[in-house]
Amino acid sequence: MRGLFEKAEEAAAFLRRKGAAPRALVILGTGLGGLGERLEDAFSVPYAEVPHFPRSTAPGHAGRVAFGRHEGVPAMVMEGRFHYYEGYPLEEVTLPVRVAKALGARTLLITNAAGGLNLAWAEGDIVAIEDHLNLMGASPLRGENDERLGPRFPDLSEPYDRALLDRAAAIAEEHGFPLRKGVFVAVSGPQLETRAEYRWLRSMGADLVGMSTVPECIAAVHAGLRVCALSVVTDRCDPDHLEPVKVEKILAVAAAAAPRLERLLLGLLRHA
Ligand code: HPA
Repeated sequence: MRGLFEKAEEAAAFLRRKGAAPRALVILGTGLGGLGERLEDAFSVPYAEVPHFPRSTAPGHAGRVAFGRHEGVPAMVMEGRFHYYEGYPLEEVTLPVRVAKALGARTLLITNAAGGLNLAWAEGDIVAIEDHLNLMGASPLRGENDERLGPRFPDLSEPYDRALLDRAAAIAEEHGFPLRKGVFVAVSGPQLETRAEYRWLRSMGADLVGMSTVPECIAAVHAGLRVCALSVVTDRCDPDHLEPVKVEKILAVAAAAAPRLERLLLGLLRHA
């Protein structure tokens, strides 16, 4: 069986032949697609055509990768991500990060839809992730380490790049909308949390909860990429007044926040 390094190289070689040479990878979360259409000289490739890529089965995810430029900066945009809850091992979930690195990318920008544990925040607020808790019970780095991909014990003392975070804050200020900052906890899902779990997650210091992002961040740090991750608060997780969450509502709140997120992503891409 081929190892992860070889798989990433094969996928990268296939995409390189189509003209891909991204400086940044953007992974778009639930209900947040569309950035690919804003790129110049754009083309897209269905995941099904890319060697070793899994299929995206989650709602609100298009399942293709777009390439193009924004103000001269070449980008690779995953329109729909792979989640652990879909059944893929985390090594597969994070394969696009390895492929982007093989293609020459230096920066990873991530978006996601998340539950708001910090009750000072409102639905639709955008949050820059400052730090994370990994409660998925798994790591994309488990197993034999290939030094060509990164070190055995990567340092996570600052997984989210401070300079990118400051730049995101400046872009939000320039456009007149608030950007929150907080700690994201990743759970495996796909079920949402119980009230007891929301209380517990809050008590351990998390502001946001979601089912993605942390594996991609860990793989990117391992690969030596700078990371910036932005969440949309799609539902408030108030254990004392909890209402059932509908996926349709999560998608609608995410869609309403998409234009603000797009501004942040395009502004960050300019300096990628
Ligand atoms: N929990 C986990 N993931 C989520 C949530 C949530 O409340 N909302 C959106 N994604």
